[in-house]
Amino acid sequence: MTTIDIAGTPINLAVIIIVVVVKILIIVYVCNRRSKMQKDRYVEDSRFIPLTMVKFLDDMERERPIRFTSEQLRIATENFSILLGSGGFGTVYKGIFSNGTAVAVKVLNGTSDKRIEEQFMAEVSTMGRTHHFNLVRLYGFCFEPSLRALVYEFMINGSLDYHLFKAKKGVILGFEKLHEIALGTARGIAYLHEECPQRIVHYDIKPGNILLDSKLCAKVADFGLAKLCNRDKTYITMTGGRGTPGYAAPELWLALPVTPKCDVYSFGMLLFEIIGRRRNMDVTLGESQQWFPMWAWEKYQKNELKELMRGCAIEAKDEQVVERMVKIALCCVQYRPETRPVMSIVVKMLEGALEVPESSNPFSNLFPGVGETGDSFVRIVWNNANPSNWSSSELVSKPQVVMGTPLMGKYDVTMARE
Ligand SMILES: Nc1ncnc2c1ncn2[C@@H]1O[C@H](COP(=O)(O)OP(=O)(O)OP(=O)(O)O)[C@@H](O)[C@H]1O
Ligand SMILES: [Mg+2]
Repeated sequence: MTTIDIAGTPINLAVIIIVVVVKILIIVYVCNRRSKMQKDRYVEDSRFIPLTMVKFLDDMERERPIRFTSEQLRIATENFSILLGSGGFGTVYKGIFSNGTAVAVKVLNGTSDKRIEEQFMAEVSTMGRTHHFNLVRLYGFCFEPSLRALVYEFMINGSLDYHLFKAKKGVILGFEKLHEIALGTARGIAYLHEECPQRIVHYDIKPGNILLDSKLCAKVADFGLAKLCNRDKTYITMTGGRGTPGYAAPELWLALPVTPKCDVYSFGMLLFEIIGRRRNMDVTLGESQQWFPMWAWEKYQKNELKELMRGCAIEAKDEQVVERMVKIALCCVQYRPETRPVMSIVVKMLEGALEVPESSNPFSNLFPGVGETGDSFVRIVWNNANPSNWSSSELVSKPQVVMGTPLMGKYDVTMARE
């Protein structure tokens, strides 16, 4: 028995050792497998962006706004390294997705400001569902505590102001092209006002918000100021004034009801800048020419538009179309919203399909000497005398701050209130 026991002991030991070794091998195998599986999962994670990009493209084709993560936008913009410009609400960076689609990513200022959030929500819900040849397409957005951004289609030729006011750097635009740009812009705004499912007022029409694609076709950008209003409502009242000084209609500075006609006014101011290929206000010029719209009105009134055109270096072949544009601009900047045409009529007038009516003085209410009787007046508070600060929209709280043009500020003129 003992012998067997003594002899059996090494056998038992060998079995135990074998069992332990097998168990160890099993444990090692399982650990290896787990680690491999984790590795595989990591590989899958790293492929997340290109994989979801396929879905993005699919969504893009179906014209649905896409939600991006901050990481995806960080990769697309190479860590937000290519700056395109900045405005009142954020900074714009160029980005390229893995499939080669170029985008402009507008990173919104601040994170918890309610005003910013409101604008963000308005832009996403309206632009994402609004498509027209003359509107900049919104591909999507990012909404994370660390990043709130809007992702737009990239416009290779940038904004119109660059080409109008920095002629040596930008493309020199001839009048045929400028007329086309004006018409495209008018069509984009007309679509917003009259054709898309929900009526959209832009509130910030200006050369900086007209972008140009590779063929220099105009696309209206930034529906950020848009407030939605139902078709059955004749006007909406804003809780705070908005717009860019120099382009904003009088009703935006005053506590008056706001209608889509405020965009018509801004479009008129834009049209003057297109005609003059200069900013409407230029204090370096002689007094009579400093404020281009007034100069244009005076020349129109005296039947001396040719003189204005000579001053703007307009070629004889373009005179007819430019004369038409001046008359349309004068109609658009009428003081009273109800006397301005709707945008679809502006489109037809620019196309030459409709005659442009004779215009009355758009500035009579702005200058008390020639103002209409019976109006009461409020004093203009000119709080931003430097026209170079005009490029961006800013919130104007009403009615304490009333914006005017520098010329009005210079002459300390008063503003008529209806
Ligand atoms: N989709 C785009 N494609 C190419 N460039 C763009 C695009 N969007 C904006 N940019 C560039 O970024 C600049 C800044 O745009 P942003 O909208 O922030 O400012 P803004 O238009 O000057 O002022 P606001 O805040 O009143 O709109 C533009 O002038 C333009 O040059
Ligand atoms: Mg803009």
